Amino acid sequence: MPEKIIIDTDPGIDDMQAIFLALLSTEVDVLGITTVFGNSGLDNSVANALRLVETAGRPDVPVVRGASRPILLPPRPGAPSIHGADGLGNAADRLPKPKGKAIGQNAANFIVETVLAHPGEVTLVPIGPITNIALAARLEPAIISKVKRVVLMGGSAFVGGNASAAGEANLYNDPHAAKIVFEAGWPIVMAGLDVTYRYLLGEDYLDLVSSLGNPVSDFMKEVFVFVRQRMIEWNSREAVPDLHAVAYLIAPELYTTRRLPCYIETEGRTAGMTVVDPRPPARRNEVIPEIDVILDVHAEKLRGLFLQRIGAFGK
Ligand code: RIB
Ligand code: CA
Repeated sequence: MPEKIIIDTDPGIDDMQAIFLALLSTEVDVLGITTVFGNSGLDNSVANALRLVETAGRPDVPVVRGASRPILLPPRPGAPSIHGADGLGNAADRLPKPKGKAIGQNAANFIVETVLAHPGEVTLVPIGPITNIALAARLEPAIISKVKRVVLMGGSAFVGGNASAAGEANLYNDPHAAKIVFEAGWPIVMAGLDVTYRYLLGEDYLDLVSSLGNPVSDFMKEVFVFVRQRMIEWNSREAVPDLHAVAYLIAPELYTTRRLPCYIETEGRTAGMTVVDPRPPARRNEVIPEIDVILDVHAEKLRGLFLQRIGAFGK
């Protein structure tokens, strides 16, 4: 049976690749896509999520509006240098306009309603700031024991931050939401920057995806124009952080995980930091909830899986 999932997202160039993989894989059943601020504003997240489901031939997947700002912090500026001002590499005006609209319900209510309708079966897959997940847990605490697991892109066990020296962007963007989610008590799998940095791609990857010749790959080809330019300007290889949260559900055998205590910093210059404690239990001086941290991936096999799934679209 495919795993029922709700993807919570701020699409987002890496979100785009994660969402296409999910929509084109039978191992998961996407019950809905809830949207959140993050890489750009909420309106872009909604429009981009609509574009993704429609391009993948899945306009039946509900797109749901969520939080436009963090729970306590002021609104965040987005990441235009990484994702473009529109969240899709400034390609939005070259891509099909969304035909559909977001449903009337808000993300927190959608998450609560969907989890209560399928107790024990729904996995939450947040790949943006986790504001909606925190709001849903506070709105209806009964979902915490009814969610199958939370498999998120966020945090960093041992490789420092990206949005700050200590904070990974998704948790840095709403550290108070992160604290609520990490302390809720549901099972958490964290695909953080550790595994992100184990899967870095070059122009050959962009060429391979762009050559697949179907509406999904053509969509990414347009967005990758911006990625190519950024890779040249920054002399960098391309990371796809969000992909690992979805790929872990589809092919867990490609990943290496370790169960570790983890808590969230919410104040000061380390706000958003995931403090992971690798010390042996006998050395630990307090009881901290443990999570499964993804530390590594079989990069070649993952790249092959992604190209195979995208290439099979429409065949
Ligand atoms: O730190 C990487 C995360 O921040 C990814 O989810 C990316 O899309 C951005 O949201
Ligand atoms: Ca994201």
